[in-house]
Amino acid sequence: MAQQETIVILDYGSQYTQLIARRVREQRVYAEILPWNAPEAQVMARRPVGLILSGGPNSVYDAGAPTLPDYVTRSDVPVLGICYGMHLLAHALGGKVVPGTAREYGPAEVDILETDTPLFTGLAAQQAVWMSHGDRVETLPPDFRVLARSSGGILAAIGDATGRVYGVQFHPEVRHTPNGAAMLRQFLYAVCGCHGTWTTEMFIEAAVARVRAQVGDGQVVCGLSGGVDSAVVAALLHKAIGDQLTCIFVDTGLMRRDEAAQVKATFQETLGVRLVMVDASDRFLNALAGVTDPEQKRRIIGEQFIRVFEAEARRLGDVTFLAQGTIYPDVIESAGVRAASASAHKIKSHHNVGGLPEDMHLALVEPLRDLFKDEVRQVGLELGLPEKLVWRHPFPGPGLAVRILGEITRERVATLQAADAIFLEELWNAGLYRETAQAFAVLLPVRSVGVMGDGRTYAHVIALRAVTTEDFMTADWARLPYDLLGRVANRIVNEIPAVNRVVYDVSSKPPATIEWE
Ligand code: XMP
Repeated sequence: MAQQETIVILDYGSQYTQLIARRVREQRVYAEILPWNAPEAQVMARRPVGLILSGGPNSVYDAGAPTLPDYVTRSDVPVLGICYGMHLLAHALGGKVVPGTAREYGPAEVDILETDTPLFTGLAAQQAVWMSHGDRVETLPPDFRVLARSSGGILAAIGDATGRVYGVQFHPEVRHTPNGAAMLRQFLYAVCGCHGTWTTEMFIEAAVARVRAQVGDGQVVCGLSGGVDSAVVAALLHKAIGDQLTCIFVDTGLMRRDEAAQVKATFQETLGVRLVMVDASDRFLNALAGVTDPEQKRRIIGEQFIRVFEAEARRLGDVTFLAQGTIYPDVIESAGVRAASASAHKIKSHHNVGGLPEDMHLALVEPLRDLFKDEVRQVGLELGLPEKLVWRHPFPGPGLAVRILGEITRERVATLQAADAIFLEELWNAGLYRETAQAFAVLLPVRSVGVMGDGRTYAHVIALRAVTTEDFMTADWARLPYDLLGRVANRIVNEIPAVNRVVYDVSSKPPATIEWE
């Protein structure tokens, strides 16, 4: 197996740091994010073939502003400083950074002065880029050259005489810099000498080996939720350890329509995974009877889930490992690598179901810890999971409970499941499911008057919610075509007698949240 090449990204608090990592990995090079002040030994233990310094909100002259660790310029590892990262390099190496005017904030045009420099080889001499910092480099450090200049005269790219250190004032990682991916690619391949070893196949091969080494001949239990991450964990573990893996699917009665049957068909029948299906819907619905407060719903479901899951896991006997679908963004945020602000806005209690009480003392197996969501999906496809499962929108742990406003009854769950299934089916048929980050139906706690045939009706209202978002922290309502919305609304009122009115939610987040509860 080829040696894994790693790029270390030192995080200076940019909102784009994760995007840099994703863009590097899209070029088939593994990238890991570490805090800017990570100890040198921790960074060098990765044997980085290149370092990228992210942007950040500070000015190099701010009191207490993050600084450049001296190993960055001492070592002979290639460096690319982006925005604040460029300022740091210039500042540390003897150049001068000054506050700019707001003039070049946002889109800008730059002239590449050295089109044969490795960073820009193959690109036209004029490039559109995206700037987002007030400060700029005014005086070059000794032995540096200007590689690109903006039409407003700002130093847009600089490089040192050794060809090892580069700085760019703009953000190559954002889509608003159309050739940014090509520039990153040049840095990775022409400057750092990467070969492109980060592929789905390589990941699977290495992950299988790691899981086998960790688990030995132990038994592993894995909770399937119907979602992508747990599905990919199960498929990967099944490949690695076969029948040493047992999956448990707890049907809370609050899943999307046909979800339990689909999980059974995919995992038991197609993949041959050992699967325990538990129909706990009576238990969940009884515990939720009469409850209308959203946080109380979440609490009850979380508690019930743990009890049911634990009882089933104990029944399996000598299980020593619990597999979980933790992915890289969770790791980064919980390790506090990223500034706390990224996770500071979680207002709802988002406990993901799937955890177990600590007294079971199970060791965790988390084979997706290094992957971004899009990489998890690629692994899922490579492992033969069905496309509809792999592209599934996120679904909240408490399931339809937070989409049924007011009291939850079996009948109301069935109404919502039917409406939701129609919406999703039409979205797939229109080819818009994958472009939408999340789409679902919500059952409102009101009735409205309608007319059907000769009769007056007094029936339920369904709200349709569809959003586009990159990170689920902010979201916009999806501009779905009117005729699609019309078709969905028609089908819902015609096929579901309990519903006589459909509305479309046109709120963005903030101020609304994506879910209604
Ligand atoms: P909101 O509604 O806060 O949702 O804008 C952001 C994302 O989180 C999901 N969500 C949950 N996920 N348990 C979960 O596992 C929860 O209680 C929960 N509430 C919201 C929501 O579906 C969206 O993707």
